[in-house]
Amino acid sequence: MRKFGLIGYPLTHSFSQTYFNEKFRRENISDCRYDLYPITSVGKLPALIQAQRELVGLNVTIPYKEQVIPFLNKLDFYAEEIGAVNVIRIVDGKRIGYNTDVFGFMHSIKNLLQPFHSAALILGTGGSSKAVAFGLKKMGIEYDFVSRNPDEKELRYADLDAEVMHQYKIIINTTPVGMFPKVDDCPPIPYELITRSHLLFDLIYNPDETLFLKKGKERGATIKNGLEMLQLQAEKSWEIWNS
Ligand SMILES: NC(=O)c1ccc[n+]([C@@H]2O[C@H](COP(=O)([O-])OP(=O)(O)OC[C@H]3O[C@@H](n4cnc5c(N)ncnc54)[C@H](OP(=O)(O)O)[C@@H]3O)[C@@H](O)[C@H]2O)c1
Repeated sequence: MRKFGLIGYPLTHSFSQTYFNEKFRRENISDCRYDLYPITSVGKLPALIQAQRELVGLNVTIPYKEQVIPFLNKLDFYAEEIGAVNVIRIVDGKRIGYNTDVFGFMHSIKNLLQPFHSAALILGTGGSSKAVAFGLKKMGIEYDFVSRNPDEKELRYADLDAEVMHQYKIIINTTPVGMFPKVDDCPPIPYELITRSHLLFDLIYNPDETLFLKKGKERGATIKNGLEMLQLQAEKSWEIWNS
């Protein structure tokens, strides 16, 4: 049996587990299973791998995407550059870290981009915002972060005036604001300044249409949720574990 799984804490509902178990069923893959490993500290990873000898691949989620790095033997180029890991491949006891969020993000947004989409606001400065920033850089799109506690290079939500909203035609929500069950929340941006030229991308996939996306759609903006990004990063994980 080849074992795969997800580390994070707490782990209540997992897209990845459902996704991989359905994949194994659909593709008649009978020698693989995918389990949840809700470890209470990332320092428990080596013991988990020691105990689970058949473990060959892990996904990593909140709050360990950055904390896990000191517990890995090697990082691939993207994980190193981004400073966050969401996939681990275990080969002969060695732990190699990868970042497939960036692949998922770039491939999910690329078909929506228009020539005037040259600058992006990234809402939030957590683990996934780093992968988004790296992806934008690779696609030649300028970006700035918007934070509740900005450093000198970042914007605060109160800075988003007409000039800023005109300059940045892409707005990407990498915060958990609006995620189920708090579906009546949305990031505090001036939605009245959103136009048909804007593209709003939300990393959240539950609900399908967050209030952030709904408000953007009402203003005529192009919108997309995080589901395809999630599916693309999961398939890329599978490719890495089987390479
Ligand atoms: N679709 C996908 O494939 C995919 C992949 C990864 C993550 N996600 C989703 O993306 C979201 C963020 O994930 P993450 O790992 O980056 O989370 P995270 O590390 O917890 O970071 C989220 C950032 O959002 C901001 N934030 C947190 N709570 C907030 C609040 N109440 N109000 C305003 N801003 C707040 C914070 O930035 P500041 O302190 O700077 O404001 C924080 O650093 C989650 O919903 C996750 O499910 C989706």
